[in-house]
Amino acid sequence: MEIMEKKITLHDKSFVPFIPNEEIEKAIDAVAEQLNRDFADATEADAPILLCTLNGAVMFAAELLKRVSFPCIFKAAKMSSYVGTNSTGVVQGDLAAGFNYKGKRVIVIEDIVDTGNTIVAMTKQLKALGAKEVKVCTLLVKPDVYDKDVKLDYVAMEIPNRFIVGFGLDYDDLGRNIKDIYVLES
Ligand code: IMP
Ligand code: MG
Repeated sequence: MEIMEKKITLHDKSFVPFIPNEEIEKAIDAVAEQLNRDFADATEADAPILLCTLNGAVMFAAELLKRVSFPCIFKAAKMSSYVGTNSTGVVQGDLAAGFNYKGKRVIVIEDIVDTGNTIVAMTKQLKALGAKEVKVCTLLVKPDVYDKDVKLDYVAMEIPNRFIVGFGLDYDDLGRNIKDIYVLES
C-alpha cells in the first residue's frame, strides 16, 4: 500500500492526510453496487442520465461510470457556490443548455453535500425541466451541516464539518488532482 504524503500546502493553507484512495474506491464500489441493483431495469429507451456536477464530481463520476452496468447517458453541468473555504449560499449554474430532461430519470452526481444549496437548486431546476425522477448520488456528505429536505439517495462516505481537498475537490482551484483526500489542518 502506498504511504500518503504527510502534509501538503495549497496557496496559503496546510492540509493533512484524511481518507486514503483505497478507502474512497471501496466506498465507490458499494455505491455503484446499489445503483446497479436499483437501476437494473433500465433500458436503452429509458436510460437514466448520470449528471455530473462540474468541477468537483469529475473524478467520482469517472470512477462510477467504470462501475455502472445499466444503459445510461452521461451529462455534465457546471455548478458553483464556493469561494475559498466557504459556501457563498448562492448557487450558480444552468442545466438547461442543450438537453431535454423531459420524462427522464436523472441521477445527480455530486462530490460533496455541505449546506445542500447546490443539490436543492439542481433538483428544483431538473424537475422544472420535466425530469420524471431525480436521485442524488454523492461521494461525501457533511451531516452536521446538511439541513435540507432533499433525500440523499446514495452516499458513499460521511465526514465531519471540516474543509477537505483531493479526489476532485479543490481549494480555490488547486488540489483536484490529488488521489487521496486531505483535510485542512486545524
Ligand atoms: P453546498 O451547496 O453547500 O452543499 O456545497 C456543495 C459544493 O461546495 C460542493 O459541490 C463542493 O464543490 C463545495 N464544497 C463543499 N464542501 C467542500 C469542502 O470541504 N472542500 C471543497 N469543496 C467543498
Ligand atoms: Mg461541487
